Amino acid sequence: MKGNLSGTILQSMETNSYSTWLEVDLGAIKRNLQAIKTMTHTEVMAVIKANGYGHGVSAVAEAVTEAGASWLGVARMEEAINLRQSGITAEIMVLGYTSPVMIPEAIKHRIHVAIYDPQMARAYAAYANKIPGKIRAHLKVETGMGRLGMPVNEVADFLEKYTNNDSISITGIFTHFARADEPQSSSVDNQLAIFNRLLQELRGADLCPELVHTANSAAVLNFPEAYFDLVRPGIAIFGLNPAPESPLPETFQPALTWKARLTSVRVLPPGHGVSYGSVYVTSKDERIGVIPVGYGDGFRRITGQQALVRGKLVDVVGRVCMDQCMLQLDGVPGAVPGDEVVLLGKQGDQKITADDLAAKWKTINYEVVCGLADRLPRVYYSS
Ligand SMILES: Cc1ncc(COP(=O)(O)O)c(C=O)c1O
Repeated sequence: MKGNLSGTILQSMETNSYSTWLEVDLGAIKRNLQAIKTMTHTEVMAVIKANGYGHGVSAVAEAVTEAGASWLGVARMEEAINLRQSGITAEIMVLGYTSPVMIPEAIKHRIHVAIYDPQMARAYAAYANKIPGKIRAHLKVETGMGRLGMPVNEVADFLEKYTNNDSISITGIFTHFARADEPQSSSVDNQLAIFNRLLQELRGADLCPELVHTANSAAVLNFPEAYFDLVRPGIAIFGLNPAPESPLPETFQPALTWKARLTSVRVLPPGHGVSYGSVYVTSKDERIGVIPVGYGDGFRRITGQQALVRGKLVDVVGRVCMDQCMLQLDGVPGAVPGDEVVLLGKQGDQKITADDLAAKWKTINYEVVCGLADRLPRVYYSS
């Protein structure tokens, strides 16, 4: 791979042929994962759903397992099967809903599922009976997230019923925090108190599943008492802050750079409309560049965005189209077609972070990276 990247190039790819692409630093991902292990002294389930938070799930799965993640967490069974089929041997868990009809596949591929409802458990057992082997499930408990979870007062009876069951083996118990990114709030303490009381009751009755897990990235940073047997970080692995008020230590590094190439640079005369609706009109002779990046790639169709050209921040002007948008290049007179443009990441002394984009887009960095379209080529290297 060309460019100013140092270090080993894992997948030799000429970016010359691409007009826009993502560069993913697997070295940064591995170091971030190792930093989490060092911080928590706990086994790690690397949460790599939504195409590895946009970074490309296969390469990310390999990197995190190499770096010591013994578990991978995804949202859906299709994601889990895809990982198995790409040769991943680590434990894999589907954290969200699994359709009962997929249970035989889950058994076949050694995939753990989440279970949170007795009716669902009966349906899982019925499907598990169709093939040899048991479905391994982790019981998800409602402690305050208000999403998926079994009410605390139903858990002991449920576990008792499924002790030594022929079709379902409940090997884990977990919950999820609603506000772990707000260290000053009492929310996590309240959820933990509910969860710990339940664990105590289950242990007393010899009903507690083997693996206990609760901590997402923000809890990894803010709540050591939430580590238990396994932590479940996602966003931190990619070097991105769980929230502006829960920043990562400086040793963590973002892994992703989004680049594009200038495909045209022209001087448009005064009074010339730029893009659909002519919402931007040149006020003088203006150098207008085009990049092949649009909302079809996960960029936003909003005003006020910027990009980096020759180490300088320039404005995106006019409406963002599906596959292209325009840059005001008066501040970089040397810019020519073929120049590399950075939409997210560093160029020279400047950078645009996922948090910067998220602030412009009035969202969170998670949505920025998860929204990066599949059609963007991902190029991997290791710094
Ligand atoms: C159940 C569960 N655990 C862990 C995570 C990882 O969260 P984060 O990316 O904030 O670390 C998620 C992500 O949403 C999740 O749904």
